Amino acid sequence: MGFAELHLHLEGTLEPELAFELAERNQLTLPWRDVDDLRSRFDYGCLQDFLDIYYANMAVLRTEADFAELTDAYLARAARAGVVRAEVFLDLQAHTARGVPAEVVLAGVSDALSRSEVDHGVSSGLIVTFLRHLSADDAECAYDQALATGVELLGIGLCSSEVGFPAAPFAPLWQRARADGLHTVAHAGEEGGPDYVWEALRELKVERVDHGIRAVEDPSLVAHLAEQRIPLTSCPLSNVRLKAVPHLAAHPLPAMLDAGLLVTVNSDDPAYFGGYLDDNLVAVRDQFGLRQDQLDTLACNSIEASFLPAAEKARLL
Ligand code: HPA
Ligand code: ZN
Repeated sequence: MGFAELHLHLEGTLEPELAFELAERNQLTLPWRDVDDLRSRFDYGCLQDFLDIYYANMAVLRTEADFAELTDAYLARAARAGVVRAEVFLDLQAHTARGVPAEVVLAGVSDALSRSEVDHGVSSGLIVTFLRHLSADDAECAYDQALATGVELLGIGLCSSEVGFPAAPFAPLWQRARADGLHTVAHAGEEGGPDYVWEALRELKVERVDHGIRAVEDPSLVAHLAEQRIPLTSCPLSNVRLKAVPHLAAHPLPAMLDAGLLVTVNSDDPAYFGGYLDDNLVAVRDQFGLRQDQLDTLACNSIEASFLPAAEKARLL
């Protein structure tokens, strides 16, 4: 059975080799000597350490072709990982803030996504993620720009620095997107505690929670998530690299499965965290000795948690 990848930042698939290639093509200088120098920095103390490098590297993405090439490279790699459905995140504001127009970004990404079923056997959808370290007004403005391009969106999401950046100010935008017929998600409970997950559910009324691993610290939240079958898109290798867990053995994935949560495995920012979806699955299988039926549950969960229409889900299950 194939997997749906539901927590994947397109910019986080920018491999160092492609970053340097695009820098040369666009006559830009990256702040790293070479590919090895960049890779040597992939040892982060926390989420912010990673975000600083992630945003710096985005500078090389300038043209429609750059965005299409990035997206297509991910889809090709995802297909090899067993992905049949990809609902991908795009940090639009990180590009418009650098002067790259929304039309350029979205034209490149949507061009690659529109060919992904035929080229790679991967059905896809695009979720524009807003940056919670910026204001809700900035997010509204980016949402308007995204809609004005006419590119079809699957949903909206919330990411970037978590602790100290409340989700509540974004509630009017999440309500607006829902009224526009879009799906809604948000990162919560990655570095922030269970209260951040409650806030995403209560204020933003999200359909899925991205990461959500710290939900396990609150039994009443676990019961609510299990009862409502609210999906949690966990990213084990990301959590290890960003020190959200001290080591893989301490990851709550087995506890989440045992609690009957609709948990999925995803790669988050595979170019930065040491692996794509298949690498994440192998890591948790080997670490926790997961049985085939548990791996099958993870595959089924991913399809169920996707935003595909019911008939499509049934076909893939
Ligand atoms: N957390 C928050 N924001 C992000 C992440 C993440 O893991 N990856 C890319 N943006
Ligand atoms: Zn993420």
